[in-house]
Amino acid sequence: MSANRPAAVVVLAAGEGTRMKSATPKVLHDICGRSLLGHVVAASRSLFPENLVVVVGHAREQVSAHLAEVDSKVRTAVQYEQNGTGHAVRMGLEELSGSGVALDGTVVVTCGDTPLLTGETLQALADTHASDGNAVTVLTAEVPDSTGYGRIVRDPESGAVTAIVEHKDATPEQLAVSEINSGVFAFDAQLLTDALGKVRTDNSQGEEYLTDVLGILRSAGHRVGASVTGDHREILGINNRVQLAEARRLLNGRLLEAAMLAGVTVVDPASTWLDATVSYEPDATVLPGTQLTGSTHLASGCEVGPNSRLTDTVVGEGATVSNTVALGAEVGPGANVGPFTYLRPGTKLGGKTKAGSFVEIKNAEIGEGTKVPHLSYVGDASIGEQSNIGAASVFVNYDGVNKHRTTIGSHCRTGADNMFVAPVTVGDGAYTAAGSVITKDVPPGSLAVARGQQRNIAGWVARKRPGSAAAQAAESAGGSADSQAPEAG
Ligand code: UD1
Ligand code: CA
Repeated sequence: MSANRPAAVVVLAAGEGTRMKSATPKVLHDICGRSLLGHVVAASRSLFPENLVVVVGHAREQVSAHLAEVDSKVRTAVQYEQNGTGHAVRMGLEELSGSGVALDGTVVVTCGDTPLLTGETLQALADTHASDGNAVTVLTAEVPDSTGYGRIVRDPESGAVTAIVEHKDATPEQLAVSEINSGVFAFDAQLLTDALGKVRTDNSQGEEYLTDVLGILRSAGHRVGASVTGDHREILGINNRVQLAEARRLLNGRLLEAAMLAGVTVVDPASTWLDATVSYEPDATVLPGTQLTGSTHLASGCEVGPNSRLTDTVVGEGATVSNTVALGAEVGPGANVGPFTYLRPGTKLGGKTKAGSFVEIKNAEIGEGTKVPHLSYVGDASIGEQSNIGAASVFVNYDGVNKHRTTIGSHCRTGADNMFVAPVTVGDGAYTAAGSVITKDVPPGSLAVARGQQRNIAGWVARKRPGSAAAQAAESAGGSADSQAPEAG
């Protein structure tokens, strides 16, 4: 548990985000498996605040519903009109005091659109704030392009922070400053509450600026400080989809780096995408063009890729999965999947199984050592151990109204081009003939043959296609043109 545990974290997320040009509220856009707001909430949680409040406004029903899903203990405060960041924080604090929470200690303020901010940086801010005994500590960064940001104004002699000036209100001299306000602060709760009551709206945007609190506290003789981040990319605020892609790339790079340092081989980080929610073990290998999302887990020694997309899929120790799309599947240890395989929800491949090329599997358990090597659809089925499913087989699971299950035992050898018309059961050790349409149960150890008898009509080509290349070829091969009449099949 953190030493400097804040009384509250207030996350500002009431703005509309018009520059996203989206029907989805800005803070609900996704990067690396979490919404922008989800990342900020996760980083805020790592401080173990006594209270976590998100200020919502634009599309508040949607944003609140999302919050309830990602973190059920988050409180929301409504800011009906977006009258500025100071006003938003005021709404957050009023929500807390309105529900009887007496804030004593530190209040940290973050923004819902800065998903790269880490818990470590927030903790460093809280620690600086506490050890310096500040009334307010602002998280700042030196950025290559400060356009649009609030500028940090420092006393030329002492270097102390004196004010934050918004871009739109800055003098040319202030515009030249490259140290900017990240929008993240630590405040003394009581002093913040008092100062917010004094914030005015006589600025270019007619809003209550949170940044004015800093000047107000300083003028009243309180300690004002700054915590400068080492990595300015952490405070990247997302306003449009170019920045969204940039943030995704940066976060992905960070996640890949963590995976590599934990022992995962990533052959081509530039074409590999990882969600924050993916887990792995040392000595897993990821080949180029691979996207791992959701709760996907890679066990030790497995190899995934190239060109695969795995969502909520568990890959067992030493398994290989290539050129595959998998969703909600389990791949057992030592299994071999692909190339060109589609695993759908409910697929459970046992150890050392094979799901080969152009094979689709859904809601099916495949026992240890069983192979489905080529061109097949296995839906709603249980297959035992050490069985082999012939190429081009279809588990006919749908009668147009309901889905039915097929059960195939252990040590079975089913022929190529079989249809298993469910519900149907093939017993242990049974065989089925190629081309069979299996509609009735096959007892253990039987051979099922369910196909039309073949008949050969001798001389048919010579009689019906005389003079054709086929007829000539047949004649050369001894298939005579004047042989007997067609035999009855
Ligand atoms: C703000 C800061 C600026 C800083 C920048 C960092 C102020 C006045 N300016 O500017 O100094 O450099 O962030 O990114 O604080 N929000 C509300 N309610 C409101 C207004 C905003 O909830 O009424 C939320 C927004 O949803 C957003 C955050 O506050 O998450 C920041 O608001 P935004 O309008 O993006 O502020 P900036 O102009 O970027
Ligand atoms: Ca912003």
